[in-house]
Amino acid sequence: MKKKIVVLGSLNMDLVVRAARHPQPGETLIGTEFQTFPGGKGANQAVAASRLGAEVWMIGRVGQDAFGDVLLKTVQQDGVNTTFIRRDGQAATGVALITLDAAGQNTIVVAPGANMRVTPQDVYESEAAFVGADILLMQLECPLEAVEAATQFAHHHNMKVVLNPAPARPLPAKLLAQADYLLPNQPELRLLAKGEPEVNKAAARLLENGVRNLIVTLGEEGALLITAESQEKIPAFSVEVVDTVAAGDAFAAAFCVALAEGKPLRDAVLWGNAAGAIAVTRQGAQPSMPTRAELIRLLSR
Ligand code: RIB
Repeated sequence: MKKKIVVLGSLNMDLVVRAARHPQPGETLIGTEFQTFPGGKGANQAVAASRLGAEVWMIGRVGQDAFGDVLLKTVQQDGVNTTFIRRDGQAATGVALITLDAAGQNTIVVAPGANMRVTPQDVYESEAAFVGADILLMQLECPLEAVEAATQFAHHHNMKVVLNPAPARPLPAKLLAQADYLLPNQPELRLLAKGEPEVNKAAARLLENGVRNLIVTLGEEGALLITAESQEKIPAFSVEVVDTVAAGDAFAAAFCVALAEGKPLRDAVLWGNAAGAIAVTRQGAQPSMPTRAELIRLLSR
């Protein structure tokens, strides 16, 4: 039977321009191609978890506009249950302006629109999604009050909570301690550890503050799995990078699917690395999310 994952998070239309490099402040650059892709950290993670074999229910908001129509349709086509994605009449669908340089590295500015209107009430009214679910997966493109409400609701339903604290922002110590698994990248880790630049010291600081399982994604270096008992670096898969957008989302989704299926923590991180590696070889956010067959193939390589 499929494992059930609830994703609380954002849906954005990604407006992507490629250029040889990123512009300096005040500079205008002539880029190359322009493309639009369905994105948003929440929707990317929901789509990836579904392609990797989970039953996925998503909670979020889009506007009553054309981008909202497209984003709802695309996640539905990937099998995500959208019963609790609301159409908000007061705000536009979220949009992300993305620049990609020649090496596939990205910068992103998000206009969150309807994503920032998700409420704790939206969470409580989505109880049917939580019933019988294994994992709640969240990021930080929705209001913190909704993330906090969902965390408590998930524990009430005996679910594990996985928090991908992206984009980086300070978080209450209580929320950090309530997340069963915290999945930051290095800049997010540094910010959560109040500016501590050294990964080991930053991780130690978070563990002292109640974080139990810390998984730090390191891009092409792989990921660090840190608990109170041990620390292990799990190397990345070597691939040709085309577009780094949503690699972290692929990682988070694969990590959750493996965890929900009862795989050991180390294997869940390995699944995350493999999913991230596949995602960077393709263009776009949701189009680059791997299928289960692709992931298994890479793992057996
Ligand atoms: O993580 C990548 C995502 O961040 C993009 O799809 C964009 O929408 C932003 O939310």
